[in-house]
Amino acid sequence: SALPGLLARAPKAELHMHIEGSLEPELSFQLAARHGITLPYASVEALREAMDFEDLQSFLNLYYACADVLRTEDDFFELGWAYFQRAAADGIVHAEIFFDPQTHTARGVPMGAVILGLHRASEQARRQLGLSSSLILCFLRHLSEEEALQTLEAALPYREFFIGVGLDSAERDHPPAKFERVFAWARTLGLHVVAHAGEEGPAAYVEQALDLLHAERIDHGVRSIDSPALMQRLAHEGVPLTVCPLSNLKLCVVPDLAEHPLPQLLAAGLRVTINSDDPAYFGGYLLDNFRALFDALPQWGAAEAYALLRNSLQASFVAPEQKVAWM
Ligand code: HPA
Ligand code: ZN
Repeated sequence: SALPGLLARAPKAELHMHIEGSLEPELSFQLAARHGITLPYASVEALREAMDFEDLQSFLNLYYACADVLRTEDDFFELGWAYFQRAAADGIVHAEIFFDPQTHTARGVPMGAVILGLHRASEQARRQLGLSSSLILCFLRHLSEEEALQTLEAALPYREFFIGVGLDSAERDHPPAKFERVFAWARTLGLHVVAHAGEEGPAAYVEQALDLLHAERIDHGVRSIDSPALMQRLAHEGVPLTVCPLSNLKLCVVPDLAEHPLPQLLAAGLRVTINSDDPAYFGGYLLDNFRALFDALPQWGAAEAYALLRNSLQASFVAPEQKVAWM
């Protein structure tokens, strides 16, 4: 099947994209030169060649190493602005973007440099590209809940600049249950809550994210396919899943896009959306994900394409009036 041509320009939302994962090798080398940092790769090409992953952890190792070039508020502005330009070119009208403050504050970068730099890019995107966006602060699940609590506290002076919290990094052996208290606190602050679950971890972690964290959306969630009871629940409750096809392929979560569980998830009535996760590392931005998926799934056509787009707008955290205006 071919992706309907109209899809390229149709309004769409991206709900699962880590801004550090949009750091292209060219920008990594520019920022390294600016700050006098020597990257452990000789060239842009050598860094690209290192993007051959066997699982989530092998990706995270490279992702955290490259993030070391992000030092100043201007660096975060440039990172954000580069993504927004690419997003606008893909027809994205709204993006809810993850950032990982602990990756930066642990290196001595101030919380304000991260948030204010990204916020400035977001404002410029709204003015110059007509693209709205919001930030979602993610806790690194391989670290302790105590550190997550300290991170949320450090971000409170910037509360107006982010709309929610999420949970990312190494999933195995770091269940949602570990973060019950910090998510409860975030909810009392009026923040939206989402969580990565069921990427490499089991369907039971998706259930924990719903029951213990009260997650409003599940990021990835593809392992839900292993539990018929959970599938029924997700469909019945209309919980959105932010699925990332090229990510799943590159991290060996699926052997081949043709074997991705997406068709079963969609057919079972789940509210699935398509997203790019870490586009600089996984071989493409949002439209590349749509193209690769539709090339691999001959049974899919315009009906599926529009359902996925509608879901992305519907599952966003914007006001209902804005959703109506887009659709
Ligand atoms: N999973 C977990 N952590 C992440 C990811 C992901 O796909 N991308 C960036 N951090
Ligand atoms: Zn992710």
